[in-house]
Amino acid sequence: MLMFRRHLLPWLKVLLCQGLALAIVLALLPMLPEGWRFGPGWVLLFEGALAALIGLVLRLPRIFLPIQLFLPLLVLYSDALPGWAYLVAFLLCLLLYWNSATEQVPLYLTNGRTAAALAALARERGARSLADLGSGLGDVVVRVARACPDVAVAGIETAPLAFALSRLRVALARAGNARIHYRSLWDEDLAAYDLVYCFLSPVPMPRLYEKALREMRPGTLLVSNSFIVPDVAPERVIEVEDGRRTRLHVYRMRG
Ligand SMILES: C[S@@+](CC[C@H](N)C(=O)[O-])C[C@H]1O[C@@H](n2cnc3c(N)ncnc32)[C@H](O)[C@@H]1O
Repeated sequence: MLMFRRHLLPWLKVLLCQGLALAIVLALLPMLPEGWRFGPGWVLLFEGALAALIGLVLRLPRIFLPIQLFLPLLVLYSDALPGWAYLVAFLLCLLLYWNSATEQVPLYLTNGRTAAALAALARERGARSLADLGSGLGDVVVRVARACPDVAVAGIETAPLAFALSRLRVALARAGNARIHYRSLWDEDLAAYDLVYCFLSPVPMPRLYEKALREMRPGTLLVSNSFIVPDVAPERVIEVEDGRRTRLHVYRMRG
């Protein structure tokens, strides 16, 4: 069920958005006043923008915005694109989804409500330092750093493009308490943090929990978005009231 909601549902929503946008465009075109004629490129771009807008209403993750926007153009003009464009697209994907194959951790993003719930937990527990292991595009780092100015927030990331974009984002946000480090999460010393957050996949969870047990101080928290540590009962599960009904599994380190 979780696999369906996370991996298939967004793409079904993309199809729905594109279908609705196409239907709206086909309905609108004959109604255009005489003399209003647009080239097919503009019509397809409008259709993509409409689909992206519908996607926002349906709460599709923001990462689908550019996909929705350019999908109609790409489908129709795929053979008109020069060969190097595919190479560039492949390289960008490689640099962004760097850890998908090796670590079996893809890129998907924590939403605003979940980041707010995490910030509330950090405040409630009086955390002074927080790490996002595999910080992606820096959403959590920037949001928590803004919500909790007295918490030192660190993002740990190895996907080169995600690292570069999140560094830029932190610089633009001027959040003095936020940092992004180019480092594998396996090399990060977790003893430095009061709260460690992760949104990874089922694969690394057992190994990560063992690392947390070895390194984290008693009383500190490991918080996993969606993915449980097998056979370990969390101290608490926070249910976030968002579209995907996110669950934050909170594991408290014991002495
Ligand atoms: C599902 S995304 C979560 C992104 C971000 N934490 C968020 O919630 O928005 C997981 C991220 O972990 C990164 N990642 C996976 N394995 C890693 C590793 N060994 N060291 C550092 N980052 C890693 C991936 O590149 C990806 O950006």
